[in-house]
Amino acid sequence: MTIQPHGGQLIERYNPNERYEHIEKAIQLDGISLSDLELIGIGAYSPLEGFLSKEDYNNVVANMRLSSGIVWSIPITLPVTEEIASTLNIGDKAKLVYEGEVYGIIEINDIYTPDKFIEARNVYGTDDLNHPGVKKLFERPNTYVGGKTTLIKKTEKLYPTYTFEPKETRTLFEEKGWKTVVGFQTRNPVHRAHEYIQKSALEIVDGLFLNPLVGETKSDDIPAHIRMESYEVLLEKYYPKERVQLGVFLAAMRYAGPREAIFHAIVRKNYGCTHFIVGRDHAGVGDYYGTYDAQKIFDQFSPEEIGITPLKFEHSFYCTSCEGMATTKTCPHNASSRIILSGTKVREMLRNGEIPPSTFSRKEVVEVLIRGLREKIHA
Ligand code: ADX
Repeated sequence: MTIQPHGGQLIERYNPNERYEHIEKAIQLDGISLSDLELIGIGAYSPLEGFLSKEDYNNVVANMRLSSGIVWSIPITLPVTEEIASTLNIGDKAKLVYEGEVYGIIEINDIYTPDKFIEARNVYGTDDLNHPGVKKLFERPNTYVGGKTTLIKKTEKLYPTYTFEPKETRTLFEEKGWKTVVGFQTRNPVHRAHEYIQKSALEIVDGLFLNPLVGETKSDDIPAHIRMESYEVLLEKYYPKERVQLGVFLAAMRYAGPREAIFHAIVRKNYGCTHFIVGRDHAGVGDYYGTYDAQKIFDQFSPEEIGITPLKFEHSFYCTSCEGMATTKTCPHNASSRIILSGTKVREMLRNGEIPPSTFSRKEVVEVLIRGLREKIHA
């Protein structure tokens, strides 16, 4: 028996045969709402059946729960311009369109104006426009449309061999005989610290679902196609094949730190993971969140409400005195022995063609990153 989806049932909202030609009203999606529509459609966001109604939205923003009481920490909303909103009525159906193609429909049950300052402060912990998630929130239109959606067309898959729906990963894990599976979220190449916490987790669970996020990220994050290649070379050389599954996560990055950690965990439960890694400053950006805030937030809920077990890891690093990867939990040496590089510093080194030390990142990974970033610069 695999782990139960969030809310008890996998809810898919997909019907490729749904007719939409007679529907006149249309809403243009942006990249975020397109990925959300698809993730709702394939059941990754169970129990959501569509974009949040006003009541659910207010509850999620204020209490991290849907009106049913089920835990949900990130508002999944469909923002439209006031101009479009004025053409819509409750009870209407509207086509959901991206770049001229219809991807789904929505049965509108709410049209509302959010207080984005409250949303920003509660969800992101700040209303500072320098925060990339907050910036995005305010850039998106100001009226939200709520209602059940039906996904009609799935997006073209950039990584077909690594794209799975929750029902597929659930079957896959079962076929592999994995009773326990740890999910790993990342928007970065897998560096030694990531590898260390993944492998520490693998010591106690059956399988690792390496689930890099490939939806929208901020422009200075390393592009997904470069990262994908880096995961392949790493897995090929350093991981036991029969205990790891690579699969992409289509969602956009929100950079909402603690709240996004809860969201990331719950969604991975829907994919069939029983455990989820939450390390240092999960889904964080800049100095907006405390190093372990994304771990502490799990204490606000009972384990049953979350359903997936968070595996919390301290900040890990290479220690030259221990001659291995470690954390403050396992290493007695001081800062001068520890190799800690920030993501920003490493990206800077890579862009300059400098090679980060093998104690930070495997050389095979570094080679892919340098080549990829050069191509990006010359493109
Ligand atoms: S994230 O935005 O997707 O969380 P990142 O890809 O850097 O960013 O992190 C992936 C996961 O690894 C997160 O759970 C994060 O907390 C964890 N992590 C990243 N670096 C470290 C580190 N040095 N020590 C411990 N955990 C880490």
